[in-house]
Amino acid sequence: MATKKQKTKVENREPNDAVNVGKKDIRKDHILVVEDDTAELETLAEVLVADDREIHTAQTGEYGAKLLDKLDIDLLITDLMLPGKTDGLDLLRKARKNEKKTGVILVTGHGSVDTAIEAMKEGAHDYLTKPVDIRRLRAVAEKALEVAHIARRHKELEEAIAVESGFMGIIGESPAMKTVFERIRAAAPIDSTVLITGESGTGKELVADAIHELSNRAEGPLVKVNCSAIPESLMESELFGHEKGSFTGASDSRPGKFELSTGGTIVLDEIGDIPLKLQPKLLRVLENSTVERIGGRESKKLDLRVVSSTNRDLDKAVEENEFRQDLLYRIRVVTINLPPLRERKEDIPLLIERFLARLSVRLGRKLEGISKEALDIFMDYDWPGNVRELKHALEQMAIFSAEPVLSNVPETISGKKVFKVGSLAGVPIKDLEKQAIMQTLKDVGGDKKQAAQVLGIGLRTLYRKLEEYGE
Ligand SMILES: Nc1ncnc2c1ncn2[C@@H]1O[C@H](COP(=O)(O)OP(=O)(O)OP(=O)(O)O)[C@@H](O)[C@H]1O
Ligand SMILES: [Mg+2]
Repeated sequence: MATKKQKTKVENREPNDAVNVGKKDIRKDHILVVEDDTAELETLAEVLVADDREIHTAQTGEYGAKLLDKLDIDLLITDLMLPGKTDGLDLLRKARKNEKKTGVILVTGHGSVDTAIEAMKEGAHDYLTKPVDIRRLRAVAEKALEVAHIARRHKELEEAIAVESGFMGIIGESPAMKTVFERIRAAAPIDSTVLITGESGTGKELVADAIHELSNRAEGPLVKVNCSAIPESLMESELFGHEKGSFTGASDSRPGKFELSTGGTIVLDEIGDIPLKLQPKLLRVLENSTVERIGGRESKKLDLRVVSSTNRDLDKAVEENEFRQDLLYRIRVVTINLPPLRERKEDIPLLIERFLARLSVRLGRKLEGISKEALDIFMDYDWPGNVRELKHALEQMAIFSAEPVLSNVPETISGKKVFKVGSLAGVPIKDLEKQAIMQTLKDVGGDKKQAAQVLGIGLRTLYRKLEEYGE
């Protein structure tokens, strides 16, 4: 018993001089027991003693609250009724509100079981009635700690992901991007129709992915339709499907993208390019949540979420009679606008760091950064192709330089003719092809049709390549 007593740290003193403050061994679980009766307190504390635990105790709610603030408590075990102003319920609420994901077990006397049940609704893991059954206490504490560990691990992972990449793979920490993250977080779970706007290369597709991932449809399909890549003549069938024989060449029945999205999310990319004559049908589908295949007689109920994106000014398109106003209203219930990179240049150093880290892994060599001069150029440049352009500039620099610190800024960005292609020997053809494609796209201002023409490939091939590159 004496040895156990020694291990039990009873800290009924002010938290400022509590021995554990700031020196917490992170591998140990910290348990706080709050109970006004000294004998009961000691019993509870002793029962919980284990090598991988640190037990803290308090005899008043006020002191317990202080310890909750000061220490990183994994599990709080508290009597419901405590003398003074702060009772067990107050401690429970405090513990559940904190960042540390503290687990809570309540101990109650006879007659307050109802309150204990009420407390469960506020997030307590369990409750024990007095006199406390020692075996049950051990078991319940064990379980609550397990849950606390999972919650903690989850939080750590979330933080790690956030540190790695900003938010769901979207890099950025500028106020403008933080606003974007908040809007994604708010819109994702509520099934509302979202319109993502922003210049080419600002990350609209990443945002669409994030919305799907964070929605309760995440388990369902995510179907992307690039409205500018599909020839006008095929668009209707592609979106809504067709029955066999409904038009020349319809040799079988096929579901459209809307049907295929059921249970999940459909992303209508470049929605501004939907032909005017298809817009009324699209509007009808969206409004009724039903779809009829071309040549089909029954209409199928749809259960999906619609996310659209565009780099066009749709209000202007409405004015110019290229886009229907009623459709615009229908698709932009919630708007998320991605700011161009030139308006959030403070994100550039972070983008460089993260992209180089990813490139290091991909290319299997250490890339430490870019030179001071290169950074100055990056910060001065306007980035008409936005994050995509920056990402490709770095890729190009990495491919054509063997140095860990890159300084060979492409001339299109530096404005100087300093970029020399070294020997191309050994450069993977795929990488060269990608550089050619991305460079051409940039030169023609992102116009994919024109880029395909210049490159001498079909538009569909271009889209397929871009998809391969993850664009
Ligand atoms: N904030 C960001 N963090 C990380 N990567 C980004 C970010 N923004 C864009 N990218 C990357 O840039 C490229 C282009 O992004 P995306 O395809 O989402 O742009 P977009 O706005 O849909 O462009 P477009 O209008 O041309 O289709 C992708 O490789 C994407 O991963
Ligand atoms: Mg896109």
